[in-house]
Amino acid sequence: MGNRESFGSKFGVIAAAAGSAIGLGNIYRFPCEAGANGGGAFFIVYIVIVLLLGLPLMVSEFVIGRRSKRNAVGAFKTLAPGSKSWPIIGYMGVIGAFLILAFYSTVAGWTLDSVFKAVTNYYQGKDLATIEEGFTASIDNTWRSIIWEAAFIFLTAFIIIRGIEKGIEKYSKILMPILFVILVILCVKSLTLPGAKEGLTFFFKPDFSKITGRVLVNALGQAFFSLSLGMGALITYGSYIAKKDNLASTALMVSLCDTLIATLAGIIIFPAAFSFGIQPEAGASLAFNTLPMLFNQMAGGYFFCLIFFILLAIAALTSSISLLEVVVSYLTEELKITRSKATTLAALGSFALCVIAGMSLQTGSSLKVFNLTFFDALDKFTATILMTIGGLFTVIFLGWKMRKSDFEDEFTNGGNVNMRLRKIFYFIIKFIAPLAITVILITQWIK
Ligand code: PHE
Repeated sequence: MGNRESFGSKFGVIAAAAGSAIGLGNIYRFPCEAGANGGGAFFIVYIVIVLLLGLPLMVSEFVIGRRSKRNAVGAFKTLAPGSKSWPIIGYMGVIGAFLILAFYSTVAGWTLDSVFKAVTNYYQGKDLATIEEGFTASIDNTWRSIIWEAAFIFLTAFIIIRGIEKGIEKYSKILMPILFVILVILCVKSLTLPGAKEGLTFFFKPDFSKITGRVLVNALGQAFFSLSLGMGALITYGSYIAKKDNLASTALMVSLCDTLIATLAGIIIFPAAFSFGIQPEAGASLAFNTLPMLFNQMAGGYFFCLIFFILLAIAALTSSISLLEVVVSYLTEELKITRSKATTLAALGSFALCVIAGMSLQTGSSLKVFNLTFFDALDKFTATILMTIGGLFTVIFLGWKMRKSDFEDEFTNGGNVNMRLRKIFYFIIKFIAPLAITVILITQWIK
């Protein structure tokens, strides 16, 4: 174990964990899922899941990480000595992180490509059909995609090898508030478009008849994906949190920021999409075509568009480094591979999958698994299976395997903070969360 580094300040912890949470999950994936799962009904379920399950699971991961001071696999080995089965949760996390990094980088590649398009003033004056055709053409262009994907994975690996995540976090402390301000400005613009109301109604007005088991499991998957839960990322980050930091308030801050950004994304994208005539089920088009169209309508659109995509790429980067860190900390601590070798190995592997994922979205591609594109298969497998099951067993581990006194000691910083909250959290983690996640996982097979 040795002397592990820890985050410098309370704000540093929040910045790093929020950096992991806030990313393409909020601005790209959340609207896709909300659009495909009925809008308002999905949103309500999502919020309830974040508060009732996401927050306690985040606390659990922080507790497990800080208690053990180890990587995702090592944490379970340390806290359940001699057990062969508990570390499986950690292995699932490492595999999950590796797979997510792959398709995440495909989308991050589009983000970099959008930065390029923004710089070269590509969007200016173009109508929706042309922007949409351009987006499809970029995806269909194999080399173009590969170059951006490679650039993104290279950046991620570079930061991890040099161990300069903390430098990045320092910048993102300034940059993410700027992203937030731009989102607020975009909200105002979007809400004043003709036909905006329809989009707002779609996003906020729940039609409860639309809530099926599928919607529940997709909301659960999205919540875990967006909060970076159920795959060891926040166990790994938890292991770097200083002893004096308050885990519950950190988790609360991170969950709130993350949910706020996703909500803003919804308030921007749906009204604009409805106004421009983009279907809510349009998937990637929601973020990558609606937003440029919106910028086109704004005074100073060129700069807003450019800054927005740059910040989105940075938000994606602070998430992807947390993904790669899960794999690298496992390889270095458990398998004793050097940091640079581990990073290169993981990055190259992810890159190979990333290229396939990107190509599977090309027009006419036959790269399919169970009727899904390879990209969607990776996405669905990780978010709705690996992360949800990982999350389920993480709360079961904390509630039923770890000593209660260990949880309490860690949660209350040795009896100094959150004394009252500890009972509520323990109850939710031990009983409510495992039950609720199990029920959701089962309902998807029923209806
Ligand atoms: N939470 C990140 C996002 O919303 C993605 C991510 C998932 C990062 C899991 C780490 C672990 O973009």
